[in-house]
Amino acid sequence: MLFCKISCILMKEIKSKNYSIYFSSSGYTELSLFIKANNYSQIFIHLDDNTQKYCLEVFLKQIQKFNFNKILSKPGEKNKNIKSCAQLWDKLSELSGDRKSLILNLGGGVVGDMGGFIASTFKRGIDYINIPTTLLSMVDASVGGKTGIDLGVLKNQIGTFYDPKMVIVDTLYLDTLNENELISGYAEIFKHSIISSSKIFNKLISANTSIDFKNLQTIRNSIKIKNEIVLLDKKENKERKALNFGHTLGHAIESYFLKSKNRLLHGEAIAIGIVLASHISSKLFGFSSKKLNNIKSHILSIYNKVLFDKNDIDKITKLLVHDKKNSHGKINFVLIKDIGKPVYDIEVDNNLILKAFKYYSL
Ligand SMILES: NC(=O)c1ccc[n+]([C@@H]2O[C@H](COP(=O)([O-])OP(=O)(O)OC[C@H]3O[C@@H](n4cnc5c(N)ncnc54)[C@H](O)[C@@H]3O)[C@@H](O)[C@H]2O)c1
Repeated sequence: MLFCKISCILMKEIKSKNYSIYFSSSGYTELSLFIKANNYSQIFIHLDDNTQKYCLEVFLKQIQKFNFNKILSKPGEKNKNIKSCAQLWDKLSELSGDRKSLILNLGGGVVGDMGGFIASTFKRGIDYINIPTTLLSMVDASVGGKTGIDLGVLKNQIGTFYDPKMVIVDTLYLDTLNENELISGYAEIFKHSIISSSKIFNKLISANTSIDFKNLQTIRNSIKIKNEIVLLDKKENKERKALNFGHTLGHAIESYFLKSKNRLLHGEAIAIGIVLASHISSKLFGFSSKKLNNIKSHILSIYNKVLFDKNDIDKITKLLVHDKKNSHGKINFVLIKDIGKPVYDIEVDNNLILKAFKYYSL
C-alpha cells in the first residue's frame, strides 16, 4: 500500500508534442502552477451530472483554491451532440467567457470529447485541460487531441484536432465508476497491447480475469503506447490509423445498438470489433490462429457474449459506409499481421465479415 502510494506520487509525466500528461498529485501541482502563470479571465469546469456528483469534490480537495464557474452537460453518448454543444456555447457566452478563458473537462470521454470540441470552436479556440474520470478516457479519449461529437447515431462525425494544455490522470476517480464502465475501458488497454507490444499482450492474456483494471502502471503503459503513435502521426494519415484496430466494426456495432437494442458501452462494442478484426486478420494476413483464439477467449472471459442474428449483421455492415477511415467510397480496415504489426487501409469483403461474426458467435 505504502509502495503504491509512493510510486503513484513519483510516476513520471509523459510528454506529448504540445502538452504533458501528469499522474496523481504531481498533476494538481502542475495545474495550480499553470493557472497562476496564465492569468485566465475565467475558468470553467465542464462536468456531467455524474461527475458533478462523484468527482468535483475529489478534484477540489486536491487542488489549491481558484475561482470557477460550472458548465454542465447531460451524461452519456446520446448527449454527445450538437444540441448539447449549443447549450454549452450559450452558457459560456452568458457567463461572459472570452478568448482568455480556460475549460477544465472533468469527466469521461463524452465530457472530454465535447468539452474539447466547444473549446476548439468557442471564439475560434480557447484553452482546455482534460481530467479524465473513467478508465477509457484515461487511457484513450483524453490523450491525442481528437475532439468531437456524433451526428445522429453516427459516431464522431463532427470534430477537430485540438490539443489540451495538459492532462491529469488520477485513479482516485475510478473508485466511484461502476464496474461495467471500468471493464469497458479495458478494451482500449487490450487494443493498445495488440497493436504494439507482445510483452504487454502476453502479460494481459496470462493475467486473464485477475487483471487489476485500476493499476496506475498499466494505465500509464497504455497511455504511453497511444502517445507514441500520436507523436508519429497526429492527423491520422498513417501510423495513427492503427489505433482504430477493432473500431471499424466496433463503432458500427456501437451505433447499431444505440438505435436498435439495449445499448452497448463503447468498450464492449470495441471488444467485439477486436475479435472480428483479429479473425479477418487471420484470413487475410495469416495472423496466428493460436493468438486469435487467445484474443477471443480473453475477451469472452471479461465481456458477455452478444448475440447477433442475420438482420443485425446486415444492418451493422451497412453502417460501415460512415466510418471516417473510408475514402473514395472504400471501407478501410485496420488489421494485424502479428502482435505489434498493424496494417491499415485494407479493403475487406462482406463475406469475410460474415465469417468473422460466425467465429465470434461459436
Ligand atoms: N477523443 C478520442 O480520441 C477518443 C478515444 C476513445 C473514445 N472516445 C470517446 O469516449 C466516449 C466514451 O467515454 P467513456 O467510456 O468515458 O464514457 P462517458 O463519458 O459516457 O462516461 C461513462 C459514464 O460514467 C459516468 N462517470 C464518469 N466518470 C465517473 C466517475 N468517476 N464516477 C462515476 N461515474 C462516472 C459518466 O457520467 C457516464 O454516465 C465515446 O464517446 C468515445 O467516442 C474518444
